[in-house]
Amino acid sequence: MIIAPSVLTADLSNLAESCKKAVDAGLNWMHLDVMDGNFVPNLTFGPPVIRSLRKALGDEVTFDAHLMISNAEECFQDYIDAGCNHISVHVEATTHLHRLITAIRSAGASAGVVLNPSTPLTEILEVLPELDLVLVMSVNPGFGGQSFIPTVENKIRKLKQAIDEQVKNGGREVTIQIDGGVKAFNIKEIQSWGVTNAVVGSGLFNNKASVAQNYAEILKALE
Ligand code: DX5
Ligand code: ZN
Repeated sequence: MIIAPSVLTADLSNLAESCKKAVDAGLNWMHLDVMDGNFVPNLTFGPPVIRSLRKALGDEVTFDAHLMISNAEECFQDYIDAGCNHISVHVEATTHLHRLITAIRSAGASAGVVLNPSTPLTEILEVLPELDLVLVMSVNPGFGGQSFIPTVENKIRKLKQAIDEQVKNGGREVTIQIDGGVKAFNIKEIQSWGVTNAVVGSGLFNNKASVAQNYAEILKALE
């Protein structure tokens, strides 16, 4: 299982240092939470900060941009140019989802779609054959450190079935990613639903232990 550190609860004034701690601990898939103060009630960072982070971390680390923004159709290219390898867009914020996914993939990035907790799976089934990843939100987006919403289990199990069916019919394998409230105590169960990529923010970056110690706890839970 890939553990994707979300830097939202890290020390953002030392973003590169926080990320380096995660990389040194063996985590090399960075989940970058981009918020615009419009689609979600919070603001984080955009392409210039990501470009600097890319310089600081080098090319070995995967940058996964979770775009919680209203205008991804207009500006996704800026995130790819800044060094993002993977772009996930919210289905709730996009009118022409198929066009956007196709454009992201043509631009050389892998493409994901994100579902808020209240958004049904049916919203994305028509584009499933075009996707590299589906991100199921297990909190309402906007803030780190919230509690896991358990009703996502049903959605993830159905998504896993739909992907298995697609693969059986010769279609593409799609990664299931989860984001929000994932901790050492619930990650094993989440994995059993078919999730192979878990975003962890406050479970890694907190004042109880170091990132390396928290990651070790997660790995122990997954044994
Ligand atoms: C929420 C973000 C998440 C979140 C993860 O809008 O997309 O990545 O910050 O943080 P935790 O693990 O603390 O819920
Ligand atoms: Zn996120």
